[in-house]
Amino acid sequence: MSFDEKATRWDADPKKIERAEAVAAAICEQVPLTPTTRTLEYGCGTGLLGFALQPAVGELVLADSSPGMLSVVEQKIAAGSFGKVSTLQLDLCKDPFPDEGFDLICSLMTLHHVDDYQGLLSSFWELLNPGGYLCIADLDAEDGSFHGSDFNGHQGFDRQALAVVLRRIGFVDVNFTTVFEVVRGEEEALKHYPVFLMVCQRP
Ligand SMILES: C[S@@+](CC[C@H](N)C(=O)[O-])C[C@H]1O[C@@H](n2cnc3c(N)ncnc32)[C@H](O)[C@@H]1O
Repeated sequence: MSFDEKATRWDADPKKIERAEAVAAAICEQVPLTPTTRTLEYGCGTGLLGFALQPAVGELVLADSSPGMLSVVEQKIAAGSFGKVSTLQLDLCKDPFPDEGFDLICSLMTLHHVDDYQGLLSSFWELLNPGGYLCIADLDAEDGSFHGSDFNGHQGFDRQALAVVLRRIGFVDVNFTTVFEVVRGEEEALKHYPVFLMVCQRP
């Protein structure tokens, strides 16, 4: 099932909301946010992370490649009373960059879906203002059972290997914490998938 097809039922899973709120709380603890922090959530889905951060940041752009996801976000914007929040259909692997830079770029459970994830991290560097923060939350390296055998993306990420890639691009103060755990399966065969939050800075 595509993300477009999943969009209207995405928020029906309370664990996805809990996960986004845990990541937002950790970002608020680890990153100095102000009402002028111009923020991009990349691969926003229904905007769960971005909306949770919205009271702490400035202008917020919610970007995703899926029009179905963005249509759910637009309904939320229309129904709510948010500050400056907008949507952007964006795939940084092929679309031109937005014109203005960001002070914070965050992303939750999206990096493992992007084939050229190193290229995407370099694009985040280009899009960040000097002093800006990158916050990526995603799965630790797993055995492929999270998505199953017909998934072509990445099976999570090894923290040390990801840190090497980020430092090579130029990011500094790369720091990982565990912020959530997805638990799946039946009682006798529960599988645990830790979710890390990586925070680093463009100097
Ligand atoms: C697993 S969902 C996570 C959604 C949301 N961040 C959350 O945690 O609820 C991955 C999201 O990444 C988006 N996505 C996948 N590949 C993308 C790409 N190349 N560019 C932008 N968004 C992408 C999908 O459309 C989907 O909304």
